Amino acid sequence: MARSIAVANQKGGVAKTTTVHNLSYALAKKGARVLMVDLDPQACLTYSVGIDPDCLQVSVHDVFVRRAKVADVKMAVTSDDADMTLDILPANIDLAGSEVYLLTRTGREHVLSRALKPLTEEYDFVLIDCPPSLGVLTINGLSAANEVIVPMQCETLSHRGVGQLLEILEDVKTFANPQLRVRGVVATMYDGRTRHAREMLESLGTHYGLEVLDPPVHKSIRFAESPMRGVSIHQHAPVSPGAKAYSAIAEQLMKG
Ligand SMILES: Nc1ncnc2c1ncn2[C@@H]1O[C@H](COP(=O)(O)OP(=O)(O)O)[C@@H](O)[C@H]1O
Ligand SMILES: [Mg+2]
Repeated sequence: MARSIAVANQKGGVAKTTTVHNLSYALAKKGARVLMVDLDPQACLTYSVGIDPDCLQVSVHDVFVRRAKVADVKMAVTSDDADMTLDILPANIDLAGSEVYLLTRTGREHVLSRALKPLTEEYDFVLIDCPPSLGVLTINGLSAANEVIVPMQCETLSHRGVGQLLEILEDVKTFANPQLRVRGVVATMYDGRTRHAREMLESLGTHYGLEVLDPPVHKSIRFAESPMRGVSIHQHAPVSPGAKAYSAIAEQLMKG
């Protein structure tokens, strides 16, 4: 039975996609069978793993409009290690149409959750990359998940944003998915030299009772470089602090 983890934050540019890609790669490298789901019409995750979103015959959009099954949409991600199981349900701009389509459908929150059911024995982890909004696609991601991870850029963190997100998570728990739990925060683009960043990190625990997964992921230009090559940070810069950070977080997740 796969553990399904939604990576969500309504803010853009906080490293949701970066976290899904590199955490998934790290988990797969450690022997876990991993499926990534791209729920953002901008398709950055799809692009980051080396797939051209504009050349897809089918995408996750076809799953939402019930034209295709997940088994027919998933693609293997190229890695250096033939033994790794790392797959993706890719997206492209068509996914923007899913939002419109779903608006009039009953049970619209549960389409992804239902679609993923047949695959749950095939994977150990399903990581879902949510778009930067709290719309129906994100709600589908949260409804299909057992756990949610919230990437946060500590420097620009606004308490209002965190509160809003936690309210939505409570709503999803009440109305769609009672088993959802917040696994923790990943501190991204972290600059530990500033007192502000350190204080922000501490306040997540004291104000909101959120666990901060260790270690924080520091700022590094390597993270901007690797998606352009269509590879993870582990393939692009294997011994970099960023690669080590995501590997350490993966290890922590594998423990439970
Ligand atoms: N630790 C990091 N250090 C520096 N840049 C990063 C880091 N993590 C992510 N980035 C960069 O920040 C930008 C936004 O990241 P992304 O994962 O696309 O955010 P989101 O999915 O939340 O919109 C990207 O250009 C990405 O390469
Ligand atoms: Mg993204």
